[in-house]
Amino acid sequence: MQILSATLDRVKPSPTVAMSGRALELKEEGKDVIGLAAGEPDFDTPEHIAAAGIRAIQEGKTRYTAVDGLPELKRAICAKFARDNSLNYKPSQVTVGTGGKQVLYNAMMATLNPGDEVVIPAPYWVSYPDMVLLAGGTPKIVECPLEAGFKMTADQLEAAITEKTKWVILNSPSNPTGAAYSRAELKALTDVLMRHPHVWVLSDDIYEHLVYDGFTFTTPAEVEPGLFDRTLTVNGVSKAYSMTGWRIGYAAGPEQLIGAMRKVQSQSTSNPSSISQWAALAALEGEHDFLAPRNAAFVRRRDIVVEKLNAIEGIDCPKPEGAFYVYPSIKGLIGKTSAGGKSIETDEDFAMALLDEAGVAVVFGAAFGLSPAFRISYALADETLVEACDRIADFCARLG
Ligand SMILES: Cc1ncc(COP(=O)(O)O)c(C=O)c1O
Repeated sequence: MQILSATLDRVKPSPTVAMSGRALELKEEGKDVIGLAAGEPDFDTPEHIAAAGIRAIQEGKTRYTAVDGLPELKRAICAKFARDNSLNYKPSQVTVGTGGKQVLYNAMMATLNPGDEVVIPAPYWVSYPDMVLLAGGTPKIVECPLEAGFKMTADQLEAAITEKTKWVILNSPSNPTGAAYSRAELKALTDVLMRHPHVWVLSDDIYEHLVYDGFTFTTPAEVEPGLFDRTLTVNGVSKAYSMTGWRIGYAAGPEQLIGAMRKVQSQSTSNPSSISQWAALAALEGEHDFLAPRNAAFVRRRDIVVEKLNAIEGIDCPKPEGAFYVYPSIKGLIGKTSAGGKSIETDEDFAMALLDEAGVAVVFGAAFGLSPAFRISYALADETLVEACDRIADFCARLG
């Protein structure tokens, strides 16, 4: 008898494992590797938030909490949705989990039956399709190329929906492209969804506060109140508050769905860390002055990287609206051979050769469902980014 479950066979091993394994090997050999692959801000958690966590420990707030979040935190999340998104949720419509990741996983586990389809625009965050597969559903990938700004059009969405469609997952600003939907672009999609009342919307808004150049963030249930009763709005403190290690994410939606997600969590992990929940409360209720200078740094870094990459022949790097990623196309480099003799047939070949020969770790596009491209996370010091881009330029100049 097989020890491993058949469900696990449906899930691909992470395509990034080989890359990060190789980066680690090179580092252990003493090579100087610049990592542009991590999906997290390089800033520290703001002091007032960290202090709230320390205070929670000192005050003995270290016991189990309600399974899907402290009432105080749920009230603060309701206030956040009202303040930032004009969405009025009750605490009973809110769930808190161990990162946005757990909340998304709970949603899939709580809703998918075999055969249910989930529309996922590509490039997508690596975990969406595999979470759908783990929960027994079928991902329906919609390719959104660079020429379309990496955004799904109304026609594409309409064509992707069948009677089996249960969810469409939207993520704006996006990991891995940084692309964000304007209100008009979102409205075009929500108009389609209004014609298909059996389809639910999962909006992953985790990069909400990381938008630049005056871009105004909006979310589907705000753009189309008619979708409120079939939308799950997901968010978290990891990215905007530089709290990736604290592991707090949350979502709001119809009570029945939230209750089902709570049931999944109650039989798996129970409550997220009590200490982290008190810190997240301080994050949501505290001052947000730290965001503007941090976002200014992200804009400066984005512009450095976009300018330097676009100066390289064969690379095309759009300037995104938000998050801290760029997703350059390497269409112009496919078919070439590296100075080290590696033939570049795919974006994985490109990323591996770049790591081996130039000491720069990026994530190749195939991991996100749209090739040939790669993702750079620019949440690093300016001089590190300059050095990394110079290395990429040198590597590309030596392709033959
Ligand atoms: C698009 C997107 N959604 C959700 C998450 C999950 O974040 P966390 O579990 O840290 O809240 C991430 C993290 O990389 C992400 O990029």
